Amino acid sequence: MQNRGSYLDALGVEQWVSRGGAAVADPLLATPVAPQAPAAPAPPAAVRASQATPVTPAASGEPAWLTLQAQVAACQRCALHAGRLNTVFGVGNPGAQWMVIGEAPGAEEDKQGEPFVGRAGQLLNAMLLAIGLPREQVFIANILKCRPPGNRDPLPQEVAECLPYLERQIALIKPRILLAVGRIAAQNLLATDTPIGKLRGQLHRFGAAQTPLVVTYHPAYLLRSPGEKRKAWDDLKFARRVHRELGQAG
Ligand code: URA
Repeated sequence: MQNRGSYLDALGVEQWVSRGGAAVADPLLATPVAPQAPAAPAPPAAVRASQATPVTPAASGEPAWLTLQAQVAACQRCALHAGRLNTVFGVGNPGAQWMVIGEAPGAEEDKQGEPFVGRAGQLLNAMLLAIGLPREQVFIANILKCRPPGNRDPLPQEVAECLPYLERQIALIKPRILLAVGRIAAQNLLATDTPIGKLRGQLHRFGAAQTPLVVTYHPAYLLRSPGEKRKAWDDLKFARRVHRELGQAG
């Protein structure tokens, strides 16, 4: 199994060795993050779910969650349904404390029906692990459930039709924090056209529940611009601090 260091390498985060001998990438990393540390082998899914949701039952077995899944699978609200192979509902723990929200499925996601399965997905997994979060522990979804042709940006009308599904997912999961990855996710969730560079590094709130929301760069952008990975690492540390200090009780 890869250790935290290899995930930090993927993020381009330099490491140095402390006098005690442990590799340290940042003073914050020296702070134990025991409940979410990736060092131990993952427990069975049922155990994972109950650990992640001490008070709220996982939404996955609830009628409301199953109804939502069925609605998305059958959706024809916009023209994207005509070109899709699969809807991409989202993946992960429906009782998660962390929800990661990207833009829209790409070609591989459309084929597999799962978000972030390509190269950008591998980097996203590395980013999450760098703050102690295995992919299975979070819930990952997109602004759109269907792939736009040629991976073009989502159209406003597509977002308007699809966003209620995501809002319903957020309402059922009740995450402690939302991590918006990329401009499209951030601007649509926050209903703004402010550039992503200005949305980073701030605590935002989303929806009626005022869920804390943090913005970072999209992993596909980081693959094209590796020099920006340091900023993404700062964002992740900020999000981890927000989760610890400001998350809703439970
Ligand atoms: N990019 C996204 O924003 N979402 C995916 O699911 C895949 C790539």
